[in-house]
Amino acid sequence: MPIYHTLGRVPRKRHIVFPRLDGGLHAEELIGNKGFEGPASLLYHLRHPTPVKSVRVAKTLEWTADDDPAFRHRHFKTAQLPAGGSIVEDRVPILFNADVAMAVAQPTREDEGYYRNAQGDEIVYVSDGGGVLESPLGSLAFGRGDYLVVPRGIVHRYRFDERPVRLLVIESAGFVRTPHRYRNEFGQLQEHAPFSERDIRRPRDLQMIDEKGAFPIVVKKDSRLTRVTVDHHPFDVVGWDGYYYPWAFNINDFEPRVGRFHLPPPVHQTFEGDGFVVCSFCPRPYDFDPEAVPVPYVHSNVMSDEVIYYASAEFMSRKGIEYGSITLHPDGVAHGPHPGRTEASLGATATNELAVMVDTFRPLRVAKEAAGVEDAGYFRSWVAENGPAR
Ligand SMILES: [Fe+2]
Repeated sequence: MPIYHTLGRVPRKRHIVFPRLDGGLHAEELIGNKGFEGPASLLYHLRHPTPVKSVRVAKTLEWTADDDPAFRHRHFKTAQLPAGGSIVEDRVPILFNADVAMAVAQPTREDEGYYRNAQGDEIVYVSDGGGVLESPLGSLAFGRGDYLVVPRGIVHRYRFDERPVRLLVIESAGFVRTPHRYRNEFGQLQEHAPFSERDIRRPRDLQMIDEKGAFPIVVKKDSRLTRVTVDHHPFDVVGWDGYYYPWAFNINDFEPRVGRFHLPPPVHQTFEGDGFVVCSFCPRPYDFDPEAVPVPYVHSNVMSDEVIYYASAEFMSRKGIEYGSITLHPDGVAHGPHPGRTEASLGATATNELAVMVDTFRPLRVAKEAAGVEDAGYFRSWVAENGPAR
C-alpha cells in the first residue's frame, strides 16, 4: 500500500476551477479502484481524457492449460524460452488461476504505443535489465531486483536502457498491497515490518506532453488486447495527488528475518493480493543455534500451491534448478530439501539465495507454453539414486 504522493501543480481544493494558461480549464480525472471507495488519485489533464478515435482488437490472449493432468511437482526452465517481442504482447504464460497469473517476458524491443491493464494489477519483477517505467503520473527508473507495482487502469510504457531484459510478470485480479499485518491501524508500516515507506520508490519527473494526434493505447480486458487510439498524448497531466500510482520496491531492500531456529516462509512476505501472497528469499545469515538445521523441514502446504521463481542459480534446499527456473509444489504434495541437502547445510553460516515465491490459495493450472520447457523428471528428484547426495 503506497503512501500519499503528489507531483506537479494541483489546485488549492479538489473539484474547483483550475484554469489553463490559455484560458480554458484543466480536466480533472479520478482514477482508482473499487469505485469511489478504494485507493485513488486525482489527475489534472490539459485535455479531457475521453475522446477515442478508433478501437480494434489487437490480440486474443488464450491461456490454455497443458493436457497432462497427473498431479505432481513441476519444474519449468524458463531460461530456455526464446527471447523476443514486446513486454505487453509477447508474455509467455506459465501458471494461472482466477486470482493470479504468472508469465515470463523477455522483450527485445520497446512498444511504440502505451499500455493499460484494465483487468488486473501487475507486479513486474525485474530479474535482468533496466530502464524507465513511464506514466502520466511520472517516471520510475528501474533495474535488477525491482518489483514494479502497476495498479490496474494506469497507462504506462517501458523504456529499456539495459539488456537483456528478463521479467516475471504477476497479474493480480485483486489490489496488490503490502501485507496487512505489517501495517498499523493508520496504514503506516510498523517497526517490525521488513521494509518501510522509505524503501518504496514513487514516480518522479512528471512529463507534460502537449501534443494532438493519434496515440495508440493497448488495453487489456477480458483476456484480449484492444488497440484504442486517442486524439492526444496520454501524458498531458500537469499535476496529480493521491494514493494510486505505479511504485517500485527492490528485493535487496527487503530486510530478511533470521531466528535461532528456522523461520517459516511468511517471514519473507512482501506483498499480498486477493488469493495469493508474494515472498522474497534474500541473502542472509542462517539460523544461529549450533544445533539448528538451516534448510527447511519437509512440508505439505495443504490448500496452497507454492511457486518459486529462482532469481539466482543458488537455493539452499534444491539441486537441479537453474537461474530462471520456476517450480510448482501443488496443494498437499510433500516437498523439502533434496537428498543430502539437510546434512550438507549443517554448520553453514549464510546463504546467497535470491528467489521470489508466489503462494496461491486456489489451485494453479500449468500453461501449455510452460510445459514445453518442463524438466519432466523433477517429481522424481527426491529419489536418492537420481543424483548424488549433496
Ligand atoms: Fe515449500
